[in-house]
Amino acid sequence: MNLLNCDAMNFFHNKNILLGVTGGIAAYKSVTLVRRLKDQGANVQVIMTESAQEFVTALTFQAISGNPVHTSLLDPQAEAAMGHIELARWADAIVIAPATANSMARLAGGEAGDLLTAVCLASKAPVALAPAMNQAMWSNQATQKNLQILKSRNIEIFGPAAGQQACGDVGEGRMLEAEEMTEKLASLFKQKTLSGIRVMLTAGPTREAIDPVRYISNHSSGKMGYAIAHAALEAGASVELVSGPCSLEVSERIQLSRVESAAQMLAAVQRNINEIDIFIAVAAVADYRPRAIEGQKIKKHADTITLELVKNPDILAMVASLQNRPFCVGFAAETENLEQYAKQKLESKQLDMIVANRVDKSDSGFNSDYNSATVFSANSTTEFEKSTKTRLATELIGLIASHYINDEKITEQHE
Ligand code: C5P
Repeated sequence: MNLLNCDAMNFFHNKNILLGVTGGIAAYKSVTLVRRLKDQGANVQVIMTESAQEFVTALTFQAISGNPVHTSLLDPQAEAAMGHIELARWADAIVIAPATANSMARLAGGEAGDLLTAVCLASKAPVALAPAMNQAMWSNQATQKNLQILKSRNIEIFGPAAGQQACGDVGEGRMLEAEEMTEKLASLFKQKTLSGIRVMLTAGPTREAIDPVRYISNHSSGKMGYAIAHAALEAGASVELVSGPCSLEVSERIQLSRVESAAQMLAAVQRNINEIDIFIAVAAVADYRPRAIEGQKIKKHADTITLELVKNPDILAMVASLQNRPFCVGFAAETENLEQYAKQKLESKQLDMIVANRVDKSDSGFNSDYNSATVFSANSTTEFEKSTKTRLATELIGLIASHYINDEKITEQHE
């Protein structure tokens, strides 16, 4: 199955989705979510907590889902039709939307005192939560601690988004809209193309010290590398990210090594490179570093000073030259002659693929949330139109995975 050509429809066809609705004003959005999932071929059953029924009636969800709504753990009639264990087994995925602070706390505590928590505890299906609450409740340490516990159990967290809240506050805590939720849910069913594959990435800029307070660096934000690392994680890979200085969030399921200089980045890459299947070099590594780092801050006495620079090691070329090399993907950020320079790098560094993108456009590239790219391999060229770095990252990982898998097959045939 080609990830790039699949729409959400394929992912939901005949899938059993159990929607848990807890007591928040965002419960009305979940009505639309049920409609979207039904439109795309899913079977939907709904569990509502007691407080959820204060916001939206069970009848609404029954009418939209086409199934009776489950509300009680100890209802003999409901248990006879489909008890909590059957519901737990029925579900291909469980999504709790909205998930209140209270429901997150109960799930984190492993409680099973009501139907929803009991089903979650009894099910082996993937669980996703769409938190929705007041911004202060969301940022409260107690909620954040529960969030970490839930994440560490591989529970997916969808959102929350930031913005105007029902209570009048502005901040993080809004439940995602039904369309976004549907897209994220589809990812739970996507074929895990990189499952069992070990991916290492470099990302961000490097800093080359001049003296104890100054350094040479560049405008790389790290956004593209981090997005690709998360896309690889979503595709089932185990991911190691060697990152230059940047302040982006990273999933705790990614093994993160923070470095500053190119020399430190090289050392971190070398530590585990022999265990890696795919190496993706997204970092904007400084090409040169000062020959010597001054021990003390340079004083501004002279009108001119000269800084002698020496070439940094090429981390990607080093990895590509290893005897048991991983599948190697490079990036070429160029301001001109994109295709020519990218193809030259593909050859000179002996890469399997190179992702070329222009960095002279103000609305995409280095510091932006958007990017476009052209990917070259020895015998293919693939264009990716401008889109968010997150979306582009998913598409790039799809392409990298299909090339990697094809290469593996060819190698096997020759053995
Ligand atoms: O030669 P150039 O710097 O344009 O090559 C870019 C590619 O090589 C990127 O993938 C970058 O991460 C990688 N690179 C590296 N080590 C360097 C310089 C570049 O890994 N010292």
